[in-house]
Order: sequence, then C-alpha cells, then structure tokens
Amino acid sequence: MKLSERDEEMLAGRHGEPLRRAMDALVTLGRAYGAVDMVDIGYAHIHAGMAMYKDDVKLMEDLADAGARVAVPSSANIANADLVNWRQMGAPESLVRLQQRAAGAHRRMGSACAFTCTPYWAGHWPTWNTHMVSIESTVTIFCNSVLGARSNRDGFFAVYAAMTGRYPRFGYHLDASRQGTHLVRVATMPRSVSDFSALGFEVGRSLGGGVAVFDRFPRRPTLDELDALGAALGTSGGISMFIVPGVTPPYATAEDAFPKGSPGEAIVADEAAIRATYERFTEGDGSFDLVHIGCPHASFEEMKMYAGLLDGKRVRDGVELWATTSRSVRNMATEAGYVAVLERAGAKVISDTCPMSCHFARTASPDPALGVEPPTRRGIVVDSAKQAKYVRDMVRCPVLLTSTENAIASAVSGRFEPRFPV
Ligand code: F3S
Repeated sequence: MKLSERDEEMLAGRHGEPLRRAMDALVTLGRAYGAVDMVDIGYAHIHAGMAMYKDDVKLMEDLADAGARVAVPSSANIANADLVNWRQMGAPESLVRLQQRAAGAHRRMGSACAFTCTPYWAGHWPTWNTHMVSIESTVTIFCNSVLGARSNRDGFFAVYAAMTGRYPRFGYHLDASRQGTHLVRVATMPRSVSDFSALGFEVGRSLGGGVAVFDRFPRRPTLDELDALGAALGTSGGISMFIVPGVTPPYATAEDAFPKGSPGEAIVADEAAIRATYERFTEGDGSFDLVHIGCPHASFEEMKMYAGLLDGKRVRDGVELWATTSRSVRNMATEAGYVAVLERAGAKVISDTCPMSCHFARTASPDPALGVEPPTRRGIVVDSAKQAKYVRDMVRCPVLLTSTENAIASAVSGRFEPRFPV
C-alpha cells in the first residue's frame, strides 16, 4: 500500500507511540481490504467507551493518558447512560460514574462529547465527497446516502483514523462501490417517519446488502424520513448506502445510479412491505410499561412534533414515556419550550443513550463490581424498527412497533394502539 511521507513517519514511531499504534492498525486494515493508498479524512464519529462493556472505558482512558489526540473534527457515539439526567432513567450510579470517565477521556483527546447516534442533528454535517469514518451504522448510511460523504462501517479503527487523519481507500471511499446494485420500485408513499422505518427494515431484509436505488417517491422524503429509512436498512440488511435520485449526490436519476445498466429485476416497496414489519414486531399480550420514541436520536423537528402531540396530555400512571435525543438537540428543544411541554405531560427526555444501549441490555458484559441488574420490563412500545429489533434481541422483552402518533397515544391511554387497526 502506498503511504505518504507522514504516514511512514507515524508508522516508524517518529510522532509517538499512540500514532504508531494507530497507523499500524490502519495499515493492517488497508492491506486486508487491498487498499492501494490512504485518504485524508475530514470527520470521524468514534467509539464512546461503553461503561456496560468491561474495560471499554479504560481503553479510551489509556489512549488519552498516552497522549492520543484527534487530528480531525470528531464526535463520540452513543453511551450507556444519560450522563447528566441519569436518575430519571433508573441507571445505577456506579455505571454513570464510569460512563462520565469516558467523557473525560474524550475531552482530553479533543473529541466532542456528543454521545449520540445522530451527530448530524447536533451540527456534524460532513459535505459531499468528504472522506470520513463512523462506528455507528446509522451515521454511515445517512452520510453516504443523504450528504454524499464517504464512509464505511468502522469499528474501533475509527478512533485510529481520527488520531491520524488518515484511512485506507477501500469500500465506500471508492466510486465503484457507490453505484446501485438493486432497484426498488416504490409503489406507495410511506405516511410517516415510522412507515419509512418499517419499509427500510423489510427492504433491507429482502436485499441483505448492496446499494438499494429507490426509483421514485411520490414526494421528496424529509430528512427525518431519510434518516429512519437508512437506520432500518442498515439494521436488517447491513446496508451502508442507498440512493434516492435527486437527493443522493450526485445522482439525478435512477439511470445515473446504474452506470453499467439497470439490474433488471426489482423488488417492490409497497404497503404490504410496511405492514410486514409492524406485524413482525407485535409481540406478547399487548401489555407494556415503557414507550420509547427517538430512534435514531430525535431531531429538533421531531422534538417539535412530540411536543405538539403531547401538549395538554398526560402519560398514564404505570407507564413511562422516553424521548431520546442528543444533548445538543435537547438544549435547542429546551430553548424552544418543547422539553417543558414533554415534561409537563410526564414524559422523560433522555440524552446520551437509548433503551437498547443502556443498563436494560442483557447481552452486555458489565463489570460485576458495578452491580448492574437489568430491570424486567413487561413490554416496550417503539416507533422505530431498528429499536424494535434491538429491544427484542438485547433487552429481551416483548416489543410493540407502531407509528409515533400511536406510540404517544398508547402512553397516554395505557392501551397499545397499533399502526394498522386489527
Ligand atoms: Fe440510536 Fe439506539 Fe436507535 S443507538 S439508532 S437510538 S437503537
């Protein structure tokens, strides 16, 4: 692999041990994927240091102690607890204190303590053709498909890329990977953000991978709808890029997205596909004690919508309603008065985490000394197919997927309101 003079210097340890280690890991990664050289990156969304995973926070602290610093604008991914308003989510204090240490490591390394899966709503908005890295699949697919930036799904390598400002040129950093592989014929207009999520989940499940090209939505999807579509495609299908002609740079038409010709056979995105996801995630006897909205972490527009739906209402006794968002959006929503509306209604606005990422997860491996005991939940109502899958797999309790409007109505009435009445 061709390396720049500075890459070689880092590899030889002339810029210190942390950069030697980082460059060594990136060269190993590049060789494994046949990269011919490295690119300069302009942005990195990196590992938070997860308190629920043994020794994970220490990993970030050790790097910071050794003098590691980020070389490009960087933001931290979702964490395991709300670092500030943690009491309202019932998080063990020992876990929160450990998670706060990860924030200290990020501050020393110079990365923004965003602790969110939607850093773009918090101002990290990489533009067309920016090479970047991301540990979070939702960020990867949104930045590839909506912003036209170039990102793979990276694990811990994202931290090393942030430190060096470099990344091997392979995967979605290459033009050849950024072309359509499957045609999706859009036969219905999803009615809401949650319908986009349901549709994305079913399309991702059918395709299993590749780059899906949605031929024509009857109207231009909103940014929130595109975010939900991408998050779900990335969850069920491991998809890292989709193309909506006229939205995804630089594709104006579906033909442009297939420079070698259309793949011929298409899958159909219709109401049956949307329905199938809601049915897939309707479990248990309909009882629940938690309603969750805000997956991926809510945008300002979504916080506005939640406030509109909850104004003057009251969450039923015995039910919790969580709205999760980034701290930055929470601050803006506080200024706008939306957080006050939600809290007056009895909802909890939670930042830095989400149900599947917090102490509810039964699949994590916390240090026994932290005393984390996942609570038993009767059932969780959600409005996102991504959260639904992870609640089922990681929290391991019955999950009920519905629209945002009906999730909020369920929290108010105490009765599950399905998206499609039965
Ligand atoms: Fe974000 Fe948690 Fe959903 S990490 S994308 S809110 S499952």
